[in-house]
Amino acid sequence: MSLIHAAKIALGSLVSEPHPPAPSRSALAPLPPAQQVLPSGFLLGAATASHQVEGGNDNDWSEWEKGSYPDGKPHIKHQDVSGVACDSWNRFAGDVALLRELGANAYRLSLEWSRLEPEEGTWNEAVADRYLEWMRMLRAQGIQPMVTLNHFTLPRWVAAQGGWANEKTVEWITAYTRRVARKLGAEVDLWCTLNEPNVLMAFGYMKGEWPPGLSDGKLGLHVLARQIRAHARMARELREHDTVDADGDGHATRVGIAHHVRIFQPATRSPMDRVMAGFTDRLFNQLLVDVNRTGRIQISVPGMADLDEAVPDLKGSYDYLGLNYYSRDMVRADFKSPTLSRQYVAEGRPVNDLGWDIYPEGLYQALKRYGRAGLPIYITENGMADGKGDRRPGFLREHFEAVVHAAHEGVDVRGYFHWSLLDNFEWAEGFEPRFGLFQVDYSSPDRTRTPTPAVATFQELARGLGLDPQARTDDAA
Ligand code: NOJ
Repeated sequence: MSLIHAAKIALGSLVSEPHPPAPSRSALAPLPPAQQVLPSGFLLGAATASHQVEGGNDNDWSEWEKGSYPDGKPHIKHQDVSGVACDSWNRFAGDVALLRELGANAYRLSLEWSRLEPEEGTWNEAVADRYLEWMRMLRAQGIQPMVTLNHFTLPRWVAAQGGWANEKTVEWITAYTRRVARKLGAEVDLWCTLNEPNVLMAFGYMKGEWPPGLSDGKLGLHVLARQIRAHARMARELREHDTVDADGDGHATRVGIAHHVRIFQPATRSPMDRVMAGFTDRLFNQLLVDVNRTGRIQISVPGMADLDEAVPDLKGSYDYLGLNYYSRDMVRADFKSPTLSRQYVAEGRPVNDLGWDIYPEGLYQALKRYGRAGLPIYITENGMADGKGDRRPGFLREHFEAVVHAAHEGVDVRGYFHWSLLDNFEWAEGFEPRFGLFQVDYSSPDRTRTPTPAVATFQELARGLGLDPQARTDDAA
């Protein structure tokens, strides 16, 4: 990075404060009840992703799971493989019963591209029929589906040709989206094109911890740009081919992405840490918000990428902004790292089982900040790894309160999806982290689901919104 460029970024970071500190809630007047604050039709739900829960998938991840690094360390902790996972592929009706038990009125789930198109140009109509049946089942139970078209995993044939390193992936995912829109459009109005393009860039192409296991900062930035181009094309396909308004609210399609936002704070007062916190924030958080306003991909990292590209159909391609919010990082400059910095959690902070800072104020800050983008917001994911399950109720309550707080101050937030409905396959961390509202017993053949204490908390929130949690009957479980 040239000195002049660094100085410019430093100045920007010093004058702009992306996340104004949140007032402590205890110092403020109590909030009115959520139902008076949140808009009618607010979606309260849970989220999952196909590869993490379905089981039986055959894609780039199932290949990666078998491998190890040159030093012999397995790609996945404890050498776990996703395998049967939660067996949701065969237990979908039971999972819908769990959503009813929660009192949820929405479910964010993803489709597995590798099942629908296992070979290039080969479409599996039986799989498409099954997904269609799932959508009907959800709607029949008063649960609105939010469908993610691609949640990290790629069919093997796409991965074999370079995955997101290959521009043709944009064409392939566009064609896949068209077929999905035609097939499911009559049942689905709420779409999410891609999940966390920034996280995929970082873990798959920069840190080398996810497939394809590359550590190439420059390529990573191009992969991010490619995913943005893909999103624009996918959004267009959805609008063109899903013209049926499933719920009669006047919108046949509402399209967004699930964008992972984090709070980045400089670890010290050193100018370089401040520069890198600002830089990381702009690249990781802000860029994916700006593209919708500008219609351009603008990425300038000296020596790595200098992109300024107008992308057809990108401007206004978000009908909503989906935010996945989990945590906060302290940032230290480190020019040896492909991401140019290191992130860590400040000492003494409360952390989840994966060591992530538990920072509900950050959700309020993010909502206030991104609320200014002028788009409705859905919290498409928020949750914590908590094996014992005793801290999730407090986590859920505090984060939901952050949502109500921001809404009370005028932010247009339309939904909250807890990650996750079930414990599931947590990528390189395997099955050890437990994110589920329902715990899954992986040793039992039927993958028994047991409520954690946060189920009662969720039900309380649901009742507060006028929703009606239902007791689970044995045959639904
Ligand atoms: C975000 C990802 O979308 C999801 O796949 C993952 O399991 C959760 N974060 C928790 O790490």
